[in-house]
Amino acid sequence: MTMDQLAFPPDSRPHWLTTAYDVAIRTLTRERRWRRALLHQIAPQPKDRIADIGCGTGSQAILLKRECPLASVYALDPNPDLLVRAEAKAARKGAGVHFMHVMPDEIGIRLASIRPGKIVSSLAFHQVPMEGKRRLIDAMFESLPSGGQIHIADYGWQRTSAMRIGFRMVQSLDGGTNTQPHADGCIPVLLEQGRFVRVVETAVIPTVTGSISLYRGVKP
Ligand SMILES: C[S@@+](CC[C@H](N)C(=O)[O-])C[C@H]1O[C@@H](n2cnc3c(N)ncnc32)[C@H](O)[C@@H]1O
Repeated sequence: MTMDQLAFPPDSRPHWLTTAYDVAIRTLTRERRWRRALLHQIAPQPKDRIADIGCGTGSQAILLKRECPLASVYALDPNPDLLVRAEAKAARKGAGVHFMHVMPDEIGIRLASIRPGKIVSSLAFHQVPMEGKRRLIDAMFESLPSGGQIHIADYGWQRTSAMRIGFRMVQSLDGGTNTQPHADGCIPVLLEQGRFVRVVETAVIPTVTGSISLYRGVKP
């Protein structure tokens, strides 16, 4: 397994997108709508240990921690620049999230030590090559206990021509190879292949950049 297959190519990201990351997500993805829906789906509880994979600037992890301050929230990302922003943002908002710099090939080991009961990932999978998506789901499955939950928000099956046209904006930034499987509905298939059960697409939220779907699965 090479780094290319797991892929995290930070240097290929446009600089403006990293610096203006939060603004881009807010304006282009109807962020408030899907983040709150994801928050309610996860329904954080005081004893929960929650891991956010590919946390970026930490928005979802911070939301979770603020909603349930007694939950333990661990937020992992391979991009140190985004983690610096995430830590500053969490400090401003008084959210005690544990941020961790973790490269894709180390995620399994880190998850094993975190021992999460719930795992979340938002808008990260569409940037990852197919083999890396499978490896991530595998690592998540292995680290969860029986009954543990996976929650994903990401670009999903683009059902209409308007959605497919909007999604081209994401594809022009992130490339077609890693993103097209999402437009074709790969996430629930990958979750079931990854042995998760009760896999459901719980919401489809149209945005100008294509539709964002929420998914949930459970480890039997
Ligand atoms: C579009 S951002 C989403 C960030 C955040 N989850 C959010 O909802 O705003 C994608 C994130 O995935 C991370 N990422 C990319 N490839 C990854 C991989 N193979 N494993 C884990 N994270 C990855 C990037 O560093 C980036 O922070």
